[in-house]
Amino acid sequence: MSLSRRAFVRRLGINRASSFNGGYITARGREAMVAEMAPGAFNESLLLPPEGDEIRISSNENPVGPGPAAFEALVEALDEGAGRYPTNARPGIGDLISTIASKWGAERQHITIGTGSGEILENATKAFTGPNRALVTADPSYLQTVGVALQWGYPVKTVPLDANLRLDLTALASAAKGTGMVFMCNPNNPSSTVVGASDVEAFVAEVRRVSPETYILIDEAYADYVTDPNFQTAIPLALRTPNVFVARTFSKAYGMAGLRLGYAVGHADTIGILSRWTHVFNTNNFSNTAAVASLNDPDNLAQEVARNTEARDYTRKFFTDAGYESADSQTNFLFVNLERPASEFRAACREHNVLVGRDFPPMEKTHCRISIGTMDEMRRATEVFKQVLA
Ligand SMILES: Cc1ncc(COP(=O)(O)O)c(C=O)c1O
Repeated sequence: MSLSRRAFVRRLGINRASSFNGGYITARGREAMVAEMAPGAFNESLLLPPEGDEIRISSNENPVGPGPAAFEALVEALDEGAGRYPTNARPGIGDLISTIASKWGAERQHITIGTGSGEILENATKAFTGPNRALVTADPSYLQTVGVALQWGYPVKTVPLDANLRLDLTALASAAKGTGMVFMCNPNNPSSTVVGASDVEAFVAEVRRVSPETYILIDEAYADYVTDPNFQTAIPLALRTPNVFVARTFSKAYGMAGLRLGYAVGHADTIGILSRWTHVFNTNNFSNTAAVASLNDPDNLAQEVARNTEARDYTRKFFTDAGYESADSQTNFLFVNLERPASEFRAACREHNVLVGRDFPPMEKTHCRISIGTMDEMRRATEVFKQVLA
């Protein structure tokens, strides 16, 4: 009796608990190197496979990977997904865009898809900044837009965070005048802090007043993890405001960093310009099908947020009790003032197979970014931290 591919996959017993483990899908440990490199730059260390037995809390990944519904959809997709173009498969790219649009009460022309939200950030920088249209960003913040601007030789204006490690919206708005695009990371990576909905709205209004031509990219990669009730997604604001758009990713709370899928939502005119920069077939049937299944499984998202919040609270309490302050994290990582260079702490933790975040200038002499792993990983990691900080 012939064995169909689907039956074959089932017989292999591929499920979340078996050999096809979440590590491949989440691509744990890679963001630290890839996401902030200049596009196209070659880094030999990327060719090395991860060692496997470390606690990798350096790249803000979801340690448990996609939920069961997404996983099941992926296994189903092994049947036909590899052979068909994404326009000729179900769910196809159109189904994905429609599912995202309906989640946000939007139409398809308000959405564009990226190979991770990183592609959205890169395309936005190419589309909306230029030799005479600077990029404005906080410092420190997520660097992918800066990487593109510098690679193309475009000016970059940076604005320090405020004393609470929050975005300084007043300074960002005044820096925006006459520029091409403001990059606003909310919650901000690496500081983990968030600005509330009314502040975002006032900021957007102010930028539109002082510099109506400037685009505003609001990166909400970590929005699903926010527990501060003052935060609300800026997507409805983006849908009704010209030049404003929001980037979202499936890499974080949806656990799909290795599948590479993100999107932007905004005014149709803005999305139309952004879409011109998109590579044809920039996503694949596996990422598309897992994303549709994930969006249709809000219970799994809620579980993931609860899991992260518990492990985040535990880890933050560990540092507070040990006398080290961290910003009020609204993400899946902490930014901790260890009162010593991050490089020292990182090297000492690595000796114990715990990988923590890279340097984040200008705060690398005091602060270290630590991603939140599973509760078990954080228990073991905090034992290591205790020894290293002693
Ligand atoms: C703030 C922020 N934006 C965007 C990204 C890009 O993520 P991806 O390309 O996996 O969607 C990251 C990745 O860590 C991030 O931290």
